[in-house]
Amino acid sequence: MLQPEEASADCLQAMSHESSTTASTDKGVLAGARWLAGSAEETEAVGARFARTRPTFSLIALEGDLGSGKTTFARGFLRAAGVRGPVRSPTYTLMEVYETPALSIVHLDLYRLQDPGELEPLGLREWARPGYVWLIEWPDRGEGLLPPADLRVRLQGGIASHEINVNARTALGKAWLSLVENAAACP
Ligand SMILES: Nc1ncnc2c1ncn2[C@@H]1O[C@H](COP(=O)(O)OP(=O)(O)OP(=O)(O)O)[C@@H](O)[C@H]1O
Ligand SMILES: [Mg+2]
Repeated sequence: MLQPEEASADCLQAMSHESSTTASTDKGVLAGARWLAGSAEETEAVGARFARTRPTFSLIALEGDLGSGKTTFARGFLRAAGVRGPVRSPTYTLMEVYETPALSIVHLDLYRLQDPGELEPLGLREWARPGYVWLIEWPDRGEGLLPPADLRVRLQGGIASHEINVNARTALGKAWLSLVENAAACP
């Protein structure tokens, strides 16, 4: 349930949004939804929605060209999950772990990964368990070494807005997406 003070910031009613449960020809997609975000704040608000309904262990793959809004989505998610202080893309460190009272959030940016073997020293396996949510930018670079994503978020920059397509890839992802879509309406 949204708190009153959060309601206006989170209000997505003005944003174009559509969903489908038998999404597309894309193999492995269980459900899909699409938002058009007209500003960075609106991209953050979409990320925040997913944080408010987060399961206890889950992975979000953030895909899209350079500058399409992956870190912005992650920032909205992290803030709504209770993370304070700066949120920067871990482009050079590959990984940042944020602690909140309720859970830990692992934010990965694999853009600069040269070799999937570079992931080994990060000890990611340790975090593939309840209490950890993963947000992964450029997940294709770590293919085979990461747990499967529950949600695939594809962002695309445009002149008037950024398009955010979310596809559920697991049953958990499908239930999560459904929760997001049914979450509290705007005032
Ligand atoms: N919906 C939007 N409308 C306009 N600008 C946006 C929107 N979403 C994000 N931005 C802006 O786009 C810029 C790039 O965003 P961001 O850093 O999140 O992209 P990214 O996909 O993480 O890039 P990279 O691939 O380099 O990690 C930022 O200045 C951000 O404020
Ligand atoms: Mg980024």
